[in-house]
Amino acid sequence: MNTILVTANGPLECRGEIEIVTAAGTVVAKETETWLCRCGQSANKPYCDGSHKTTGFRDTGAPAPAAQPTDTGRPEGVLRVTLRLNGPLRLDGRFEVRTPAAGLISPAGGHEGETPGSRSETSP
Ligand code: FES
Repeated sequence: MNTILVTANGPLECRGEIEIVTAAGTVVAKETETWLCRCGQSANKPYCDGSHKTTGFRDTGAPAPAAQPTDTGRPEGVLRVTLRLNGPLRLDGRFEVRTPAAGLISPAGGHEGETPGSRSETSP
């Protein structure tokens, strides 16, 4: 099951079958559990290095209104995370998005999109 938890004031906690991919399509990492930076301050992008704690990053992870996916199948298979220069990460695959406060905010489905709550202008 691919799940992305938008942590309050912190990274995206990702669990499942995850591939980290360059913009050219080269797989650079395969993960089952990883924390992706969404503050833009990590020195080890796309991964969180804890810098959000010292830079004062504040974002509750509360969802913005968004269209619901039409496919509500199980969030399984590969979640592909594509790195983009000076832009948010691109997510392709089946996954669900959760926040500690709101719970499930985007049910499983065939999603494509950018990392939720991404504020980075310098990532990866
Ligand atoms: S979210 Fe942790 S360093 Fe950016």
